Amino acid sequence: MNDRIVVGAALYDDEGRLLAARRSAPPELAGGWELPGGKVEPGERCEDALVRELREELGVEAVPLERVPGQWPLPKGYALRVWKARLVSGEPEPLEDHDALRWLTPDEVWSVDWLAADVPAVSAALAVP
Ligand code: C5P
Repeated sequence: MNDRIVVGAALYDDEGRLLAARRSAPPELAGGWELPGGKVEPGERCEDALVRELREELGVEAVPLERVPGQWPLPKGYALRVWKARLVSGEPEPLEDHDALRWLTPDEVWSVDWLAADVPAVSAALAVP
């Protein structure tokens, strides 16, 4: 069962930069940066949810690669799971829930204010070769 799972993408570009998205909603999360993604729907595979969310939120086609080991608690009993992902086509745009995007070089990864759950998730993603 993929009940109460939120999937996030550690999406890299060809130069090895990581995509971070700044939330515009809800108010308590607005201004915080996250790995793009969202809730898995009932009966949906996590990888399919990730592809769907990246299409909806960013307008891009991406493929999930390996899962980043671990799972991180979110409010309301949700848990965050992360996959490394590769951009296949499109230029990401903040279409839904976000008001800014940044491609972060390795030196810049900790220069944005990540949401609490995303801090350990980003650390774990960086540890996956
Ligand atoms: O994007 P969506 O609103 O479906 O995400 C559900 C919840 O998961 C958000 O309200 C937020 O608390 C959390 N979330 C997060 N980090 C992410 C993705 C989602 O903290 N990378």
